[in-house]
Amino acid sequence: MTETQVFEDLEQILQQGLAALEEVKDEAGLQAWRTAHLGRSAPVMQMFSRLPQLPKELRPQVGQRANQVKQALEAALAERGEQVRAASLQQKLASERVDVTLPGRQPLRGRLHPETQVLRRIFAVFEEMGFQVFRSRDVETDEYNFELLNIPAYHPARDMWDTFYTTRPGVLLRTHTSPGQIHVMRASAPEPIRAILPGMCYRYEQVSARHETQFYQVEVLAVGKNITFGDLKGTVNGFARRMFGQNVRTRLRPSYFPFTEPSAEMDVECFVCGGKGCPVCKGSGWLEIMGCGMMHPTVLRNGGYDPEVYSGFAAGMGPERISMLQSRIEDIRYFWANDLRFLEQF
Ligand code: DAH
Repeated sequence: MTETQVFEDLEQILQQGLAALEEVKDEAGLQAWRTAHLGRSAPVMQMFSRLPQLPKELRPQVGQRANQVKQALEAALAERGEQVRAASLQQKLASERVDVTLPGRQPLRGRLHPETQVLRRIFAVFEEMGFQVFRSRDVETDEYNFELLNIPAYHPARDMWDTFYTTRPGVLLRTHTSPGQIHVMRASAPEPIRAILPGMCYRYEQVSARHETQFYQVEVLAVGKNITFGDLKGTVNGFARRMFGQNVRTRLRPSYFPFTEPSAEMDVECFVCGGKGCPVCKGSGWLEIMGCGMMHPTVLRNGGYDPEVYSGFAAGMGPERISMLQSRIEDIRYFWANDLRFLEQF
């Protein structure tokens, strides 16, 4: 092998390597090129193993030149690597570009059930007047639901409540929240009480736009010394003003409930027609909002309060009815039908 031949070979190795590198477009190509041109059996590496076969005086120069070629190839690889990686980053950025000017997707927002909303308003109004929330059970006994509330078994007033009885004698689903009165009194006597008792009630009703087999009630109870009908009136009026507006007119009509004496029903001026008369108030100008009255001595006694010393008032209202009147909901069945078209309006 002549001297010039070796150097020409080296030059060719360099040029071929550089030319091949030009064709490399991606990471895999870089790897393959590295193996081919700088790997153990690459031409430039083989040149090193050929050195011992060369004349002694030629070896240093050839070795040096081979080293330069190897370094030049390595440098070229590094540079090409940078270019390839920069190009692929550009391509990735272009293909994964996000159009930030597109309008976003409207996220679905949860909301409170209209029942929850009206209950929370009622709670807030009574809490402002110093009442606490007290809860009692949905499954009641005949004793609490009727007997202790001055409604004995033979009493015709039992017809006011169509009752779901269970297979266990004496056990029923409460038809109203009034049994809570006995529970809260027995838990509190002889302390004064200002409490509201919310809860689901159940009645064996023919379901219609106005009647459901389950519905909420909120019971109001105040027990103490010297509680008068004036306190009842002030409280229910205070409630009506906070709930329906400062200027709402109210009236109390005589009524009958076995657990109160005297008993009344409270009406608020129809807020649809302002009292002129419309289909919502059935032409009367008034909307019936709740039953109420002074606690019957028998009920006080059953709760553990001496009616000679203590007195009290009670009231009961249907929050669905209030919500229906306020939002012009025409059918009580919507409340528990879970129809999103209804629920999403609140
Ligand atoms: N418990 C009655 C009902 O379900 C509502 C009621 C009326 C409750 C008068 C009271 C009250 O506390 O004083 O129809």
